[in-house]
Amino acid sequence: MEAAPLGPTDQQINVKEQVEKMTKDRSAHQTNDVAKLEVDGKTLELPIYKGVVGPRAIDVSKLYGQTGLFTFDPGFTSTASCDSDITYIDGDKGELLYRGYPIEQLADKGDFLETAYLLLNGDLPSKAEFAEFSKAITNHTMVHEQMQYFMRGFRRDAHPMAIMVGMVGALSAFYHDSTDINDPKQRMIASRRMIAKIPTIAAMAYKYSVGQPMVYPRNDLGYAENFLHMCFAVPAEEYKVNPVIARAMDKIFILHADHEQNASTSTVRLAGSSGANPFACMAAGIACLWGPAHGGANEAALNMLQEIGTVDRIPEFVAKAKDKDDPFRLMGFGHRVYKNYDPRATVMQQACHEVLKELGIKDDPLLDVAMELEKIALNDPYFIEKKLYPNIDFYSGITLKALGFPTTMFTVLFALARTVGWVAQWNEMIQDPEQRIGRPRQLYNGAASRDYTDIAKR
Ligand code: SDX
Repeated sequence: MEAAPLGPTDQQINVKEQVEKMTKDRSAHQTNDVAKLEVDGKTLELPIYKGVVGPRAIDVSKLYGQTGLFTFDPGFTSTASCDSDITYIDGDKGELLYRGYPIEQLADKGDFLETAYLLLNGDLPSKAEFAEFSKAITNHTMVHEQMQYFMRGFRRDAHPMAIMVGMVGALSAFYHDSTDINDPKQRMIASRRMIAKIPTIAAMAYKYSVGQPMVYPRNDLGYAENFLHMCFAVPAEEYKVNPVIARAMDKIFILHADHEQNASTSTVRLAGSSGANPFACMAAGIACLWGPAHGGANEAALNMLQEIGTVDRIPEFVAKAKDKDDPFRLMGFGHRVYKNYDPRATVMQQACHEVLKELGIKDDPLLDVAMELEKIALNDPYFIEKKLYPNIDFYSGITLKALGFPTTMFTVLFALARTVGWVAQWNEMIQDPEQRIGRPRQLYNGAASRDYTDIAKR
């Protein structure tokens, strides 16, 4: 069977993309305002840019050349690393927009593949556009047969995220025909391959870790349905995916799809800025997402709820979270940007209740602990003062556990969904006429220049 064309036909690729890199038109960002900086007896006027919405930005790109000084912003709390059209977050309002559409509306009315098209292309697809896109994705969910033998090199008890990092990085060893990042057609093919194949790789990692044979994707199933089938079907009997569960899975993917310049997306952008191939960049994003301060928080949050165990032990853990001398933090709480409720946590909590109801799970002790912990934390002066609210990872673990996934798979599911955000942001970075290799500087506190001494004299 001749597979559907993976990439759009040439005329479907936006010809604008193929035009030689032009200088970026910043006129839309210009304001008449400047930031005046007085340093070493000189006064500098630094341009201030405005976006469509959100904080304005001071352009400091010429600061070092004009003054010999760096800006200093570890953790990038006050730094815009790029300009982007993809996702907007208002941390004070608790607002999240994908290409201008509120996350609540997309989760309620859309589906993940449509959201993927939106993030990649900037607008919701027409019927014809969606038909072409979903057919291309659906028809390319299989991976090269050799990849399952590559995967067999891992121990069966390897963490599925370790398998994901390895397998996604290995895609560049199997798909050489879509690694030329300067060819818009190859970029689009690599982007679609990533979106199409990441659920298959995630399901393979799961099956391998539980000692079951991998289940091949099916073209008659939707994106989330196909993933659940690949995870939970066994050769011994037919497996019907529960449509309510598939819808909840799809909604969870939408919530995790993109999130501005978070740590893993910034990692993908930085890796991509060196010209690394797209699969290597996605593997770098997966590696970064694994950390418990980031995407690994959903696994850590559920482990924390299990460690708390019962509602009466909550005060003990809240006290630990507030103790400056105790490194313990409430996992699933707090956020660099949201200083109000994470809008995704609200939708996630609703999805959690839907799944538990559909599965007939009445009194999940973990949910009881989570709801009580949230209530206590939201009324505790420490959390109020530090503006610590539940984030997306707080309720996702309970939901994913109810869906039948082990905690080690939670961040894999986050990576599966976030792949479309990484791909969209990577494409935007490559197409940015101003993009250069990312190369931050430092404030050096090491030894000043000194001479080598022979070991006999040390
Ligand atoms: C994700 O960036 C993104 O968009 C990420 C993400 C995405 O979609 O890509 O939204 C996904 O990563 C969500 C966050 C998941 N992580 C967790 O749930 C781990 C627990 N949370 C924290 O470690 C922390 O809140 C961060 C990492 C999320 C944010 O850290 P920041 O912005 O660097 O804040 P901070 O560490 O400077 O904390 C500020 C203060 C500190 O106290 P002081 O030093 O000022 O006295 O708040 C305290 C912290 O000790 N604090 C917490 C806390 N989070 C922050 N105290 C207890 N429990 C917590 N969870």
